[in-house]
Amino acid sequence: MRITISQIKAMKQKGEKIAMLTAYDYTTAKIIDEVGIPLILVGDSLGMVVLGYESTIPVTMEDMLHHTKAVARGTKQAMVVGDMPFMTYHISVEQALHNATRFIQDGGAQAVKLEGGVNVADKVKRIVDCGIPVMGHIGLTPQSIHQFGGFKVQGKTSEAAVSMLEDALALEKAGAFAIVLETVPAQLATLITEKVSIPTIGIGAGVGCDGQVQVINDILGSFTDFVPKHAKQYAKLTDIMSNAIAQYYNEVKAGSFPTDQQSYSIDESILAGLTK
Ligand code: KIV
Repeated sequence: MRITISQIKAMKQKGEKIAMLTAYDYTTAKIIDEVGIPLILVGDSLGMVVLGYESTIPVTMEDMLHHTKAVARGTKQAMVVGDMPFMTYHISVEQALHNATRFIQDGGAQAVKLEGGVNVADKVKRIVDCGIPVMGHIGLTPQSIHQFGGFKVQGKTSEAAVSMLEDALALEKAGAFAIVLETVPAQLATLITEKVSIPTIGIGAGVGCDGQVQVINDILGSFTDFVPKHAKQYAKLTDIMSNAIAQYYNEVKAGSFPTDQQSYSIDESILAGLTK
């Protein structure tokens, strides 16, 4: 049985911390699912850590659906959340509903995430009213990177902090089942967590949130173009991969790979017949 939004909400009530990770492919999703992580986000961070763009802005619905399908195929228990890409939910409530539906119907996700607060509350409400669970995302919302002028901590002035709290309350009122708080001062994230009844999932928002989300490549150390301050590297996969690839390269050049162990053979009598 897959995790449901009621179970996720109940975790906040019980004070049980919620872990969430991103995934973009079948194999990684399967490992995360088997570890027991309840929430998997097919993030539009895909654009940066998988597709090599400088930001998440070029990511399309087709990119997201392609990877969401792969993640859905790799999971049995986790709730798969599809991240709605730039400008696929801002133009109208109908556009937002149409694209959210594609994540669920075509992509195999169980929920969608979209960036924004008060400004997207009407879209969130309509999507939720139609039966699709929505996760909100406020603070440093990477799709607005040009508006922010870079990856900067949000909510540091009293005006910005009040507006972030209003965004959180608007998302809760619109029916979101959880809210991502990204790159927000820890004290403000704790305050927002206390003020809303739905779980907050922090990334660079301190330990006071109800849960945490990280980009899988950041915690595995497999994306090193830049490592955000909020990311802890639990492994250095780049080093392991680079060593393995170099060994393979050297062995191919030296003729020491493959050995008999990696080769197939044919009955000698058949071979003799061919060479007559
Ligand atoms: O795209 C993403 O991976 C995200 C997380 C950082 C929350 O939105």
